[in-house]
Amino acid sequence: MHSGPLYDKRKFASRASLFEFTKLAENLGICLIGAGFMGRAHSAAFRNIQAISPFGRQIILQSIVSRTEHERAQLRERYGWLSDSDDWRAAIRRPEIALVDIATPTDLHAEIAIAALKAGKHVLCEKPLAMTVAEAKAIQAAARKNATRFAVAFNYRFVPAIQLARQIIAEGRLGRLYHFRARYLQDWLAAPEAPMSWRLDKERAGSGVLGDLGAHVIDLAHFLVGPMADVVGRTATLVGERKWPDGKAGTVTVDDAASFLARFAGGALGSFEVSRMATGSKNRNQIEIEGDRGALRFDLERLNELEFYSTDDPPHLRGFRTILVTEPEHPFLEHWWPPGHVLGWEHAHIHLIASFLSDIVNGTATAPTVEDVVTCQLVLEAVEQSANGGGWVKVGPGEQS
Ligand SMILES: NC(=O)c1ccc[n+]([C@@H]2O[C@H](COP(=O)([O-])OP(=O)(O)OC[C@H]3O[C@@H](n4cnc5c(N)ncnc54)[C@H](O)[C@@H]3O)[C@@H](O)[C@H]2O)c1
Repeated sequence: MHSGPLYDKRKFASRASLFEFTKLAENLGICLIGAGFMGRAHSAAFRNIQAISPFGRQIILQSIVSRTEHERAQLRERYGWLSDSDDWRAAIRRPEIALVDIATPTDLHAEIAIAALKAGKHVLCEKPLAMTVAEAKAIQAAARKNATRFAVAFNYRFVPAIQLARQIIAEGRLGRLYHFRARYLQDWLAAPEAPMSWRLDKERAGSGVLGDLGAHVIDLAHFLVGPMADVVGRTATLVGERKWPDGKAGTVTVDDAASFLARFAGGALGSFEVSRMATGSKNRNQIEIEGDRGALRFDLERLNELEFYSTDDPPHLRGFRTILVTEPEHPFLEHWWPPGHVLGWEHAHIHLIASFLSDIVNGTATAPTVEDVVTCQLVLEAVEQSANGGGWVKVGPGEQS
């Protein structure tokens, strides 16, 4: 049986909605470090928060930081950043900056996060949090010492269908949980001629697809099912040499694909498969959960839908029903469009940032907590240990939230 609480009903019951808006006492200056893929996604989210929150106009896009001048110019032009810099150390110290948002390669996360926390700033950091468990714990220690807030961009928690899945589980509609199954498959590395990048270099990325896509589904497993006790897995590097964009030869030092099994502390069995070599799959983040009273299925490529099967239905009517998660009663939807006017991938980033800002303003608990994120890092490390020739590896010692 599952021993721990699956869902903190009090947290959501005490709030009128998943985020409550109070006008800010003063303007909130943002410094975003990294102007690549996630730099663009976070810039768009900060801008789009104006569509749903009364404090939108008080969020000031103060400074965009990147090593690349054309990226900085492009983001200033597109999103209205007021200034730019190639020096993150100087940028985060400016007094008008209240929140530092980190969207750089993984090797910089800990250094920037700890410096920003020490400078008294709120910090939002992209995943995976860190290169190692030791680095993640150093961030945790800095966050605990600080009065400011810290969150990690596990955006898939903030997809309305995922929040609804958590609610359905918390209401006991799946009963005792038996299985959690996750596949997160992409194909942008399937071609052997796909170029070398920092993402394939262990010194910069920390790990390959395991830390990249694996971190997302590990977090969803924690969010929906609870902590994992132990794991067993294997990883593979399927194309070992790739050319850098300038034509120089490069060696891939991270995993391209990973599979692992997990035993959850509550007794459920989990299976996970992640790959960036899955020809034909673009962003196929699929979750399936079965319990003794029901089951759920989710597919990110159809993110407005949640499939639900219930043994409470009369036997002759049993079957998976597809819930279109766009009703005003569904998580976050009261802030958007009439039913059926579907949301997209970027809305999860908007919900995540809006929730974080709402927590900062209202003093409410931030989720995922820094403990959740350290726990994710512990699972990543346990899978790596197992993949390096081991069998089942215990997760921990970590602190579950
Ligand atoms: N949550 C998600 O859905 C999601 C998706 C993709 C990537 N990510 C994460 O976001 C982070 C960034 O990934 P990305 O895809 O945006 O990478 P990217 O390569 O597109 O961008 C990286 C940015 O960091 C900047 N940068 C690098 N070194 C710097 C330095 N010393 N000072 C200032 N800027 C520097 C680069 O100039 C670039 O603008 C990674 O942690 C990645 O895992 C998250």
